[in-house]
Amino acid sequence: APQADLVIVANRLPVDRVTQPDGSVAWRPSPGGLVTALEPVLRANDGAWIGWPGSADDDEFEPFVENGLSLIPVALSAQEVEEFYEGFSNGTLWPLYHDVIAKPEFHREWWDSYVAVNQRFADRAAQVAAEGATVWVQDYQLQLVPQMLRAQRPDLRIGFYLHIPFPPAELFSQLPWRRQILEGLLGADLIGFQLPGAAANFVRLVRSRVGHKTHRDTIYLPDGRPVKATAFPISIDTAGFEELARSDEVAKRAAEIREALGNPRRIFLGVDRLDYTKGIYSRLRAFGELVRDGHLDVEDAVFVQVATPSRERVEQYRILRDDIEMLVGRINGDYGKIGNPAIHYLHNSYPREEMAAFYRAADVMVVTPFRDGMNLVAKEYVACRFDDDGALVLSEFAGAAQELRQAWLVNPYDIDGMKSALLDAFAADRKETSRRMRAMRRTVVQNDVAKWAADFLRKLEELPEQHDKTV
Ligand code: G6P
Repeated sequence: APQADLVIVANRLPVDRVTQPDGSVAWRPSPGGLVTALEPVLRANDGAWIGWPGSADDDEFEPFVENGLSLIPVALSAQEVEEFYEGFSNGTLWPLYHDVIAKPEFHREWWDSYVAVNQRFADRAAQVAAEGATVWVQDYQLQLVPQMLRAQRPDLRIGFYLHIPFPPAELFSQLPWRRQILEGLLGADLIGFQLPGAAANFVRLVRSRVGHKTHRDTIYLPDGRPVKATAFPISIDTAGFEELARSDEVAKRAAEIREALGNPRRIFLGVDRLDYTKGIYSRLRAFGELVRDGHLDVEDAVFVQVATPSRERVEQYRILRDDIEMLVGRINGDYGKIGNPAIHYLHNSYPREEMAAFYRAADVMVVTPFRDGMNLVAKEYVACRFDDDGALVLSEFAGAAQELRQAWLVNPYDIDGMKSALLDAFAADRKETSRRMRAMRRTVVQNDVAKWAADFLRKLEELPEQHDKTV
């Protein structure tokens, strides 16, 4: 494998390997906010990316270059997909870290698989990183990698970034392997979180559960090595999205979408992975009730919900899909008219160009997660509204709400509150929407993903060289 000075280690590669019906192999962009954010960072830094290509395979593949990116695949067997990915990552950690919105399951076999797969990622990173390189480990699937990597390669600078929330001690403490996870993370020199509250949760847990000394955002290990735990709110390639949104093709496509929807007065839009943290069901219920109560008319207002297929073999995701599809069917059945369904539901994923057209076409963007580390969809919408128009309805439980203060902020557990926010956003005049959008655009333009990565990497570089005793 090539030796790289910057190595990104993430569960997923930025592309998924898909076997087509004729047996040939194709690559397509993989889902989720992590990949959206990090792809431009890898491009700008000319590093290597270690990750899983998204299918169950028993054999390793060779490193390869795809679309200018240097990619190093790590294979997962069918059993590891079940136990490490669907099991411990998405049946245990994901719900535990998102306020236990769904009930986390604790299984010892899942944990064993998590340890084994983390070890494989760490071994791969140890082979690929050049002497003194920076290795940047990503997200909840790989929390043991920093410690495992440091054990083999003390010469490296190791950063870790958690893309999802880090829960309060009261919830994290349910985890039977809480101490191992904390110690795994402490292998890093710098641990990044979305929000200051998450970093504070972590520092507090390290103090109480591992017993290390801490001061503000610094943890002092017994050997004197300091570890920093700091917030770095993530963002998107703002200029890239804006440029796309400004293109003639996207303008034309946005007009086609409006036309196809029957040129309603207002288009509401939801764009999410189909995940129980996203609050899709509640927002559609709120919209359905507004139609039922006569506050909205299906000829005036239509809801487009893009729900990207996600983690479909995990039971909670299957149940959620059934619930949402039943609700959409019921609302359309009760209130739709010929040629005017109340909700257009798309269970699919789309390329960036098509998403930019959706954002341009939408009057009210509805982002209502019960808990979300950041939520990049909200920022993408803002980035695409170079016309300073469009309303954003945003959950106060998304990390993005800390920055996008001018959105119509809502509590997604409060259906009546959401109904009135949807109506206010629907009725807002251009003066009001542009006042708010202009302010939000300033934030997203100034804080893009390049700045996020530069801030993190700079802070990592600034930390003292090797573990000379600093206390
Ligand atoms: C979130 C997580 C990512 C994950 C993505 C897609 O953004 O933070 O780590 O890759 O969701 O989920 P998936 O399970 O398909 O990788």
